Amino acid sequence: MIRAHATVRPDAVIGDIDRRLFGSFVEHLGRCVYDGIYEPGHETADADGFREDVLALVRELGVSTVRYPGGNFVSGYRWEDGVGPREQRPKRVDLAWHSLETNEVGLNEFARWVEKSGTELMLAVNLGTRGVLEALDLYEYTNIRGGTALSDLRVSHGAPEPHAVTMWCLGNEMDGPWQLGHRNADDYGKIAAQTARGLKQFDPSLQLVACGSSARDMPTFGTWERTVLEHCYDDVDYISCHAYYNLKKGDVAAFLASPVDMDLFIAEVGQAIDEVRASKGSDHEVRISFDEWNVWDIERYHEEDKVTDPQVWPVAPRLLEDSYTVTDAVVVGGLLMSLLRNVDRVAAASLAQLVNVIAPIMTEPGGIAWKQTTFFPFATASRLAQGQSLTVDVDAPTYDAGKLGSVPLVDVVVTRGEHGAVVFATNRSTTESATVEVDLVGISTEIDEAWLLADDDITARNTLDDPERVGLRAFDSAVLDGGVLRVELPPVSWGAVSLS
Ligand code: AHR
Repeated sequence: MIRAHATVRPDAVIGDIDRRLFGSFVEHLGRCVYDGIYEPGHETADADGFREDVLALVRELGVSTVRYPGGNFVSGYRWEDGVGPREQRPKRVDLAWHSLETNEVGLNEFARWVEKSGTELMLAVNLGTRGVLEALDLYEYTNIRGGTALSDLRVSHGAPEPHAVTMWCLGNEMDGPWQLGHRNADDYGKIAAQTARGLKQFDPSLQLVACGSSARDMPTFGTWERTVLEHCYDDVDYISCHAYYNLKKGDVAAFLASPVDMDLFIAEVGQAIDEVRASKGSDHEVRISFDEWNVWDIERYHEEDKVTDPQVWPVAPRLLEDSYTVTDAVVVGGLLMSLLRNVDRVAAASLAQLVNVIAPIMTEPGGIAWKQTTFFPFATASRLAQGQSLTVDVDAPTYDAGKLGSVPLVDVVVTRGEHGAVVFATNRSTTESATVEVDLVGISTEIDEAWLLADDDITARNTLDDPERVGLRAFDSAVLDGGVLRVELPPVSWGAVSLS
């Protein structure tokens, strides 16, 4: 049995929790849009062709913002293809995912879906194969009320009200050689600055995201951030981070330490931000938008038997349809704890992605929609974590997590909102349970609800045939005694306790 002790420091507030931390991502990729959120023939489809069963799950998941329309897809996308009368919209090849884009769903339809789902639209512009003018045109079409060529065009397309999008991504993963129109940091920094200045001429209050590194192990990581920010520091509000984690060579212990890698990634980008800020003597604050994060078995994707025939372009093929285990969900829970621990730096984040494509929600065409294991920690954290994130001193035994070195077996994060405190905890041991005591130093006196994600079979998953195999269970071991919360976490588990 592992023993860990944590003490909350209520006066050491890390920062406010921005609701945008619980964002997600919808890309025109595989079956995320078509046969995912949109399936006109489905029995639950509404008048716009959107699946109501999926909408209900998105609401339950507690998603705040939704980044759209990509991803790698955006770097070959012409937004004009997706607006206007459907029968006139062109079909195009999507080079990023070797698919056929029918353009049945475009900006106006997606904005309607966003409204129905109660989320906020975060738009990405194409800075791969397009440039400043196309981004400005998209802004005019999207956000100007009327009286200009492109805003009137939107109105004529049946969208009388502007979509009021405030958060804009300046391209996607421009550091990646796989990206259409990939640039070096200098070239990207310049076009990001020019686009940002143009967009802010429309509205200085817009919040703009420059592309950071698409992974911490990119060869340009660090210099990319510094160079890009040298060009656009005062013009942007966020720099992005992207990170995908997976189980490598069956090393569950190393995989469970992924949140430590996320902590380091955030700290290193934070250092780059501070250096550029200091060198410019700027009082402007740039924060992190962690706008792609998840567990993703990328090796499996590369090995998948995909269509690559230059004459064959499938519509909505089954791509990146990872089926998540209990272990994956515990890692996702840990990554959410990392985001919460770093709210002084991270003001927005997007779980990539939302439906079918490395997603917490799966659908079967003409059939059911179901929750993957990763749905549960996200929905729980989004619902419970509010207010501020507090500093917690954790005293726990450590283990050897390979490349990441010595890592604590237990992690604890505490938030405090109007209703009280919430304790999130995870046990990374693959063999031993952990008794964890959290001294709440009087900030809470009663347990309201307590949930545990654990299973005797850490490879268990939810599938089409067995969609409810894994779920949350009541965290019965949680007791509060003299201001100290005590919980018992089984091996490879994640829990949340809400207190008033
Ligand atoms: O989320 C899947 C892909 O991962 C995105 O399209 C891209 O931005 C990233 O490499």
